[in-house]
Amino acid sequence: MKVLEKLFENNKKWAESVKCEDPDFFKRLSEQQKPEYLWIGCSDSRVPANEIVGMMPGEVFVHRNIANQVIHTDINCLSVIQYAVDVLKVKHIIVCGHYGCGGIRAAMDDKEHGLIDNWLRNVSDVYKKHRAEVDNIESEELKTRRMCELNVIEQVINVCETTVVRNAWKRGQELAIHGWVYGLEDGILKDLNMCVTAPEDLLQY
Ligand code: CO
Repeated sequence: MKVLEKLFENNKKWAESVKCEDPDFFKRLSEQQKPEYLWIGCSDSRVPANEIVGMMPGEVFVHRNIANQVIHTDINCLSVIQYAVDVLKVKHIIVCGHYGCGGIRAAMDDKEHGLIDNWLRNVSDVYKKHRAEVDNIESEELKTRRMCELNVIEQVINVCETTVVRNAWKRGQELAIHGWVYGLEDGILKDLNMCVTAPEDLLQY
């Protein structure tokens, strides 16, 4: 018996509808991918990279983890960045967080959540760095929202500080790093107006 039959049915329908629009779509994509964007986002099921920016398969290279972290010892994330920059030559890296992020919330409360608390240590570090600002915000909800934004800003900085990105800039490769936050409540992306195209751009953060 085939389990999760519904998903296979959905898949067949989806593949057919794509082929109906563009008969060579899958053949063309199977030969090569040439995405211009690397998306680093949260694993949250409500923030699907392709859908929210209206992109088809082949257009976005994607890495997702809880609370969209870019950690200098995370070989998984670093490998994705390296492949995207060195091989695929993406022109944009987008770090996209989202308001209402459970990871950010968990990092901010005093409860224990198990193994994940180790991963979320990095979010706690973001909080420590920006404590003066965040503690001044009265409402818990607004505090969390601001932390979602600050976390994105810090992860953009982390992307910019990787050897992969630094070397790309050094050799004159065109590459911009962006920070965005997605609103679960309205489906709208907010640009944090952080667009880093050279190491000097980082000085203001
Ligand atoms: Co999240």
